[in-house]
Amino acid sequence: MNDGKYDIGMVGLGVMGQNLTLNMADHGFSVAGFDRDAAKGEALRAAAGGRPVAAAATLAEFVGLLRAPRAIMMLVPAGPPVDSVIRDLLPHLAAGDLIIDGGNSYYVDTDARGKALAARGIAYLGVGVSGGEHGARHGPSLMPGGPREAYERVRPVLEAVAAHVGAEPCVTYLGPGSAGHYVKMVHNGIEYALMQLIAESYDLLKRGLGLSDAELAAVFAGWNAGELNGYLMEITAQIFGRIDERTGKPLIDEILDEAGQKGTGMWTSQDAMNLQTPIPTIDAAVALRDLSGFKTEREAASRVLAGPPQRFSGDRDAFLASLGHALHAAMIVAYGQGLALLHTASQARGYGLHLADVARIWRGGCIIRAALLEPIRAAYDRQPDLPNLLLDAELGAAVAGRQADLRGVVAAGASLGIPVLGFMSALAYFDGYRSAWLPANLIQAQRDYFGAHTYERIDAQGVFHTQWEQE
Ligand code: 6PG
Repeated sequence: MNDGKYDIGMVGLGVMGQNLTLNMADHGFSVAGFDRDAAKGEALRAAAGGRPVAAAATLAEFVGLLRAPRAIMMLVPAGPPVDSVIRDLLPHLAAGDLIIDGGNSYYVDTDARGKALAARGIAYLGVGVSGGEHGARHGPSLMPGGPREAYERVRPVLEAVAAHVGAEPCVTYLGPGSAGHYVKMVHNGIEYALMQLIAESYDLLKRGLGLSDAELAAVFAGWNAGELNGYLMEITAQIFGRIDERTGKPLIDEILDEAGQKGTGMWTSQDAMNLQTPIPTIDAAVALRDLSGFKTEREAASRVLAGPPQRFSGDRDAFLASLGHALHAAMIVAYGQGLALLHTASQARGYGLHLADVARIWRGGCIIRAALLEPIRAAYDRQPDLPNLLLDAELGAAVAGRQADLRGVVAAGASLGIPVLGFMSALAYFDGYRSAWLPANLIQAQRDYFGAHTYERIDAQGVFHTQWEQE
């Protein structure tokens, strides 16, 4: 349409906003950008080359550049900045316009914003964007939620800019309200779990087997070439090969061992608690990031709390192979926990998620993309309402067939005094899930003993209470 107006607007021209803008423009969409920081608008102009991109100096000018009904994407930090952009935009917008939040917003906020804007006739999409800077520029995985008709309006843009696996774009309409941001939150929860499992493997190999950084790079590159293939495996191999310009030593050994976090993993764990759906490997990943932050206490404790010698004395090659198998099994469990949470949340919140679609759009562009997502997608294709990946014949067998390796790795961590809570949680979850009987009968008896909370029986219907204390 040659009306001099732009197809879509972008508010927030930081690295992600600028890259996604250029990505859109490369696919033939004209984009008007705005950032409160004039330098970022200038940077976009400089990067635009001959592309159909403009950077407006004011919000009023920016809105005026857009074709009505307008579609405006925000890529600003989650939290108050999102509300502030919406507040500033509103006086310039009209009924029928669409705002898209591409940040890692808390899904509860997305629901509230969507409702408030709908009351003013403005549509709102919460779109998870994964893949970092490179993804934004060359093809992210996009997880959109909100009104379907709003998605259909911007679908050509989103499909064009998304990563593709074969001919399939890594984007699809996921569901109403906060469905997109919820799926992105759980994506990040799984991301935390996979990173923790990889970090524990590193710890076993470094402190346990004494591998050098060059050897670690080779091990992870080898794993990435096989069934463990995935983006996080690939970058881990590259990280171990990186030499620090400042010291000439491997950079990894110069990095402080305190993990940061912006909250998405914690939100995943918190909501899993709310929905009473266990995701212990994601919980473990959040907890271990938290523990890493207690650096001073850990240093003090390390001087007084001795453990066993941390050097592994068994067959190194056999252990390496076993660790690869254990990692594969634990990763299936981690994806499985996240997807089981999505299964529950979809029912509880009315998202109507198709988990085969979720697995499909995670196969490319995003941080948790991995070869494993192909069999995971196939599992949900076979059985769309599968409550847990462990109940899929193929993936269940893949974990069960590697359980001896998983047990060996957990035992090695325990005997060497190397913390492997991620692996332990994955194994205990597997053992708990496959237990037709769990000792929860005792917990019920205790609850009834001290609080008259009652219990059910296996041999009769109804609710029972016992007078446990006998005078
Ligand atoms: C992605 C990442 C991205 C971001 C996370 C990091 O999918 O591209 O998950 O969203 O890097 O916010 O999260 P933490 O800072 O909590 O590790």
